[in-house]
Amino acid sequence: MSAGSAVKRISTHEEGTHMMVQDQLFAATAMPDRDWWQTLWSDPDAVVKALGVKRGMEVIDLGCGYGYFTAAIARQIDPGHVIGIDLDPEMLEQARAACKATTNCIWRFGDAMNLSHLIANPVDFVLIANSLHGVPDKTALATEVAATLRPTGRIAIVNWYPIAREQTPVLGQPRGPSTQLRMSPEQTRVVVEPAGFELETLVELPPYHYGAIFVRSGERRK
Ligand SMILES: C[S@@+](CC[C@H](N)C(=O)[O-])C[C@H]1O[C@@H](n2cnc3c(N)ncnc32)[C@H](O)[C@@H]1O
Repeated sequence: MSAGSAVKRISTHEEGTHMMVQDQLFAATAMPDRDWWQTLWSDPDAVVKALGVKRGMEVIDLGCGYGYFTAAIARQIDPGHVIGIDLDPEMLEQARAACKATTNCIWRFGDAMNLSHLIANPVDFVLIANSLHGVPDKTALATEVAATLRPTGRIAIVNWYPIAREQTPVLGQPRGPSTQLRMSPEQTRVVVEPAGFELETLVELPPYHYGAIFVRSGERRK
């Protein structure tokens, strides 16, 4: 094979992979710009604490973006580990940089819908922050999470409240996913519980978000 045809074959392969990844990215989940994200979430450590992330846990940050919450989780759980997963290699690079002061982060490139194939050992806690609104089959994603959790594990979903987008400004601009994509706590419960979970706690994350924390069905009253 000539050098020219080898080059052509590689670039066609890369193009194909790129298109495949684009197809698998959830709708309306591009990572927000840092300026308004940091303004909106001025204390990520307090957020992960409020969600119940504790020292020593093994955690997955699913759709970790540039690692804003991953870094806070890593600080909170040390000596436990956090696995940051994203389908955008550029995001994973930035997340790695955001967590360079920590030694307990592990990174996985992959599709959240294949979560159970990306993780070798079950974990205590899975965070899905600011992504569920764009997932086509939300119960299928929750089923993948169920397969990666220890029996007493928890899944925390952080969502924008279903407030009109024009009414959720940050730094003077309307922000977040379109109004029609936003999910109430009840809409979240309805898609997550069929995967074998029940809602344990709702955490307020002002000004525009809530955290819905689920345990396996039957674990809540134990
Ligand atoms: C809106 S950002 C939120 C990032 C982070 N969770 C946060 O709240 O700061 C959503 C992230 O999910 C990633 N993502 C989208 N579809 C995905 C998929 N199918 N599998 C894994 N990650 C995905 C995007 O690349 C993006 O980095």
